[in-house]
Amino acid sequence: MTTRSAAISGIGYATPRHKVTNAMLSEFMDTSDQWIQERTGIKERRWARCGFEALGETSNLEMALVAARAALQNAGTAPQELDAIIYATITPDRELPGNAARLGVELGARADIPAYEVRNHCSGFLYGLQIGNALISAARCERVLVVGMELQSTGLNLCTAGRNTAVLFGDGGGAVVLQARSTPGILRIKLASDGRYAEKLGLEAPGFKRGYYLKTEDFCGEQPGVSPRMEGKLIFKMASLRMPQVVRTVLGECGFSIEDLSIIIPHQANQRILDMLSHELEGRVEIFSNIASYGNTTAGSIPLALAEAVAQGKVKPGQLVCLTSFGAGFSWGAALCRW
Ligand code: ACO
Repeated sequence: MTTRSAAISGIGYATPRHKVTNAMLSEFMDTSDQWIQERTGIKERRWARCGFEALGETSNLEMALVAARAALQNAGTAPQELDAIIYATITPDRELPGNAARLGVELGARADIPAYEVRNHCSGFLYGLQIGNALISAARCERVLVVGMELQSTGLNLCTAGRNTAVLFGDGGGAVVLQARSTPGILRIKLASDGRYAEKLGLEAPGFKRGYYLKTEDFCGEQPGVSPRMEGKLIFKMASLRMPQVVRTVLGECGFSIEDLSIIIPHQANQRILDMLSHELEGRVEIFSNIASYGNTTAGSIPLALAEAVAQGKVKPGQLVCLTSFGAGFSWGAALCRW
């Protein structure tokens, strides 16, 4: 019996041009290059935002367009051949509607295809990948575009009160084209979530439960409701536990061991979390990292890292690759792929 499966047939990425070093951040808040590098491994990030000016040089949608066009070209796929668009982001250009259908129009995709908005934060790209994989495996689609993209800099609190999150996040992301194959490309995707930790990482505002969509007080005080809040130590602990666990799960479910893997492409949250992942897996597999250059780009980080790993020749045809994430929700997951 022939198995019908999805494989990544093209990949592209995009970031803003503007580089923001740690030293530049110390002009706005009480922080230092040494503190940021020691605790996170980040040296610089790309920001559409320049300083306190909140308007960006580009938008989430514009970056997605660049990444998607590159992925389509790389796959040799025309936009009209796409059967679905899946767009993972927590920072769409506007809250309502999201960016997915607009991306379809800008690309020149057909209007008779679905455009999904996925908002599972740092795990958004893997959640999108699972939807695309399921659509192809169920023979509903032949070719699906999956995007993970963020423009977070315009929402960060650049005062000292916001330093524990502002120094972490960057803008950018990537896109992949999934295509139906008779030989398995994506072998297994395992996703998980635990809403007990919903308050540990996120924004207080906006939110419809609160009545008016945004209130004046959401912008006031030391910790404005519109700025990200995070219990860093707990996230560190849980990410270091969940990512190795879920990597072992997908490998075990497919009858593989760590030694069979060529590389892991993890969500780029913090270099120390990636070091813990490596430690938990006993240093037996390469863990790809580009966090020093881009910071944490939430849903954008896995496709951005994957695109760079492919460009650097670290992911080669036939190799076994594992993508893994952990983030707000909490939500986490892993995708095992034969490249
Ligand atoms: N510069 C200088 N000092 C800082 C900064 C900064 N940017 N941020 C916090 N501090 C200070 C704090 O105010 C605190 O000062 P105090 O002792 O006078 O109160 C001190 O540094 C220690 O603060 P902690 O928050 O306890 O610092 P910690 O050692 O936990 O490091 C960090 C913070 C890097 C965020 C760490 O908790 C961590 O790596 N957590 C993982 C969270 C993460 O990576 N999140 C990314 C988003 S979620 C995701 O993608 C999975």
